Amino acid sequence: MSVPQNDVQRAASTSRRNFLLAPVILGAGAIFSKVFPFQEASAQTAGAPQTPLNEASPPVAAPKTHYGPSGVSEAVAEVYQKARAALYPICRVCPQCDGVACAGEFPGIGGIGSGLSFQNNFNDLRQVRLKMRILNAVGPIDRKPDTSTVLFGHKISLPAIAAPIGGMGTNFRHRISEADFFEAIVGGCVDAGTMGAVGDGIDMKDTMQVFENIGRHQGRAIAGIKPRPQAAFLEMIKMAEAQNAAMITIDIDSAGRYTRYNPTWGTKTVAELSRLIHSTKIPFLIKGIMSPEDAVRAAEAGAAGIVVSNHGGRVLDGAPGTAAVLPGIAKKVGGKMIILVDGCVSYGVDVLRYLALGANGVLVGRHLVRAAFGGGRKGVQLFMETMRDELEAAMVMVGAANVRAINHTFLA
Ligand SMILES: Cc1cc2nc3c(=O)[nH]c(=O)nc-3n(C[C@H](O)[C@H](O)[C@H](O)COP(=O)(O)O)c2cc1C
Repeated sequence: MSVPQNDVQRAASTSRRNFLLAPVILGAGAIFSKVFPFQEASAQTAGAPQTPLNEASPPVAAPKTHYGPSGVSEAVAEVYQKARAALYPICRVCPQCDGVACAGEFPGIGGIGSGLSFQNNFNDLRQVRLKMRILNAVGPIDRKPDTSTVLFGHKISLPAIAAPIGGMGTNFRHRISEADFFEAIVGGCVDAGTMGAVGDGIDMKDTMQVFENIGRHQGRAIAGIKPRPQAAFLEMIKMAEAQNAAMITIDIDSAGRYTRYNPTWGTKTVAELSRLIHSTKIPFLIKGIMSPEDAVRAAEAGAAGIVVSNHGGRVLDGAPGTAAVLPGIAKKVGGKMIILVDGCVSYGVDVLRYLALGANGVLVGRHLVRAAFGGGRKGVQLFMETMRDELEAAMVMVGAANVRAINHTFLA
């Protein structure tokens, strides 16, 4: 799949930054509009002094942007407008969350280095075309497609759940507390009939508190655990068990990215993974699988599933988009284990695209961050319900009566 040349991409990124800054600059009456884009870009690199939330910057006019096919989408746009005020400039809440404006902004919301791995997620997914098949059993409004599915014994209203997101301090400069963030993510997802996720911080004591959100919501969430040393990981598994978590993920792809920040995290052998997996009854998924070879190793280790993910383009510059590698992985391990995938899921139709490529379900990361900052628990619920409505409408158009029916024959 083609990607823009680096310099073209950079130029696009700069003009996007200028465009997105315009309303903020007007709103704040800033006098340095010409140089601001460059100052703003450098202020967001790692280690730069933190910019406190500039209360004078927003209000930001809602862009006249079409957010999606459903009528509720205007409400989502309102949430995004509030999110822009709360998150700027860490996240500009672009109309299309494609990794261009925030390229290289890590810690933060962006992708590593050139940002292309994040952008590849977006571009590769958008290139997936679906076959329209309307003259079939599904169609009349009294026969709506069933968007629900069952994941490890939990019925969910759509095959989309939250992706583990951590680091409120490092990534979001403490603009929201871990408690508020995870209450919004898990509570909102559960309210929408699906499941949430919590991320792992550096400090295990903090993570223990964060994990309590899972217990408060009947265990309907992923406990995302970093690739910590074995003993620490086993302790974290106990914490997840105490909260009755629906799933555990290890984002094994954090092994390289975080070495500089936390040298104790690292990759694991099949035997080490197997020991962790078999120490618990909670379904255990290995997150960060981007090749059929690794998928086969995850199966050998006894994982209940994998998450096809390049960590939102945050771990390796030059990685393909997940949509590009998913079919090859599904060919190897599909049907033998649960395959979840993430990467730029923005609308209901994106869920359909990933399912057609071979996934059993998707995780949603950045869009739920925006929803949580813009509308808290209600914002997250609204986002997930909107996505469910969009998925239902898209399923009518491709003739899918239910989620199980979706496969590669839905690709155009
Ligand atoms: C700010 C931020 C923090 C993240 N923290 C974690 C984490 O703690 N654990 C994890 O497994 N993945 C983490 N991820 C990766 C997400 O789970 C997900 O794989 C990625 O964002 C891709 O989904 P998206 O394109 O919908 O954002 C993080 C991503 C972002 C943007």
